[in-house]
Amino acid sequence: MKSFIPWIGGKSQLRKYIIPLIPPDTKRYIEVFGGAAWVLFGKERTPGQMEVYNDINGNLVNLYLQIKNNCSALQKEIDWLQSREIFERYREDILENVQLTDMQRAARFWYLIKCSFGTNLHSFATASKNLVDPADELPLYRERLKNVVIENKDFEQIVKTYDRPKACFFLDPPYVETERYYKTRLNCFETADHERLKAVLRTIKGRFILTYNDCEFIREMYKDYNICGVSRFNLLSPSVNNRGGV
Ligand SMILES: C[S@@+](CC[C@H](N)C(=O)[O-])C[C@H]1O[C@@H](n2cnc3c(N)ncnc32)[C@H](O)[C@@H]1O
Repeated sequence: MKSFIPWIGGKSQLRKYIIPLIPPDTKRYIEVFGGAAWVLFGKERTPGQMEVYNDINGNLVNLYLQIKNNCSALQKEIDWLQSREIFERYREDILENVQLTDMQRAARFWYLIKCSFGTNLHSFATASKNLVDPADELPLYRERLKNVVIENKDFEQIVKTYDRPKACFFLDPPYVETERYYKTRLNCFETADHERLKAVLRTIKGRFILTYNDCEFIREMYKDYNICGVSRFNLLSPSVNNRGGV
C-alpha cells in the first residue's frame, strides 16, 4: 500500500529496490527514521515478525498514534476545507506549541502536511488537492499499524533497544546537507549524528539497510560495507533558506 502522507525524502520511488533486500528470516523489522514509512507500508506483513516504526518528530509520531488508537475520532476532527486562513492558524498552533489535545494536534499537523507546498509545512499550496480521500482511507492504515510498535526516540536508543541477531534495521536518515528539512523545535540532525550513526551500526548483532545520498563523506565512512548505487532525480536542494522547525 501507499503511505497516507507525502514526506520530504520519502522512499516511494526507491522502496522497490529496498524491500527485496530485507532478509527473509527477519524476526524484527525496525524502521528507525520512519517519516512517511513508505517501506513499511510497501512490505508484506510477515506472520511472527515484530515491526517497529520510529521517528524523532513528535508531531509526526502523534499522528501515527492517533491513527492507530483513535482513528474514527481523528476522521471527525479533520476539517478538509482547503483554506489559507485555516492553514495559517494551524501552522501557528503547531509552531507556537499552543495547548491542544493530541487529537487536535494530529489533525492540524496532517492538514499542514497535506496543504503545504512540497510538504514543507510552512507555505500554503495554491494548487487544488484531493483532501477527502485520505481521511476515508484511514481505517486501512489503522489496520496495517495494529501490531506495529510506534516509538518517538533518537535513533541510537532505538538501535540499541531492538538489536538482536535476526533483526533488520532500515535506516533512512536525513541526507548530508539536507538535514535542515527535518528540523524540529527539539532536534536538528548534524554531522556528528552521521558519525554517531556509523558508530552504533558498527556494534550491532543484527543486519541493516542504510540509504544515503552519494557523496564523498558517506562513501568514505562506509567504504568497508557493501554499497549499492541507484540513480534517481534529486528533488532536494541543499541551498534552501533555513526555516524554523515543526
Ligand atoms: C529521509 S526522512 C525518512 C523518510 C522515510 N523513509 C519515508 O519513506 O518517508 C528522515 C526522517 O528522520 C527523522 N529524524 C531526524 N533526526 C532523527 C533522529 N535523531 N532520530 C530518529 N529520527 C530522526 C526525521 O524526522 C525524518 O522523518
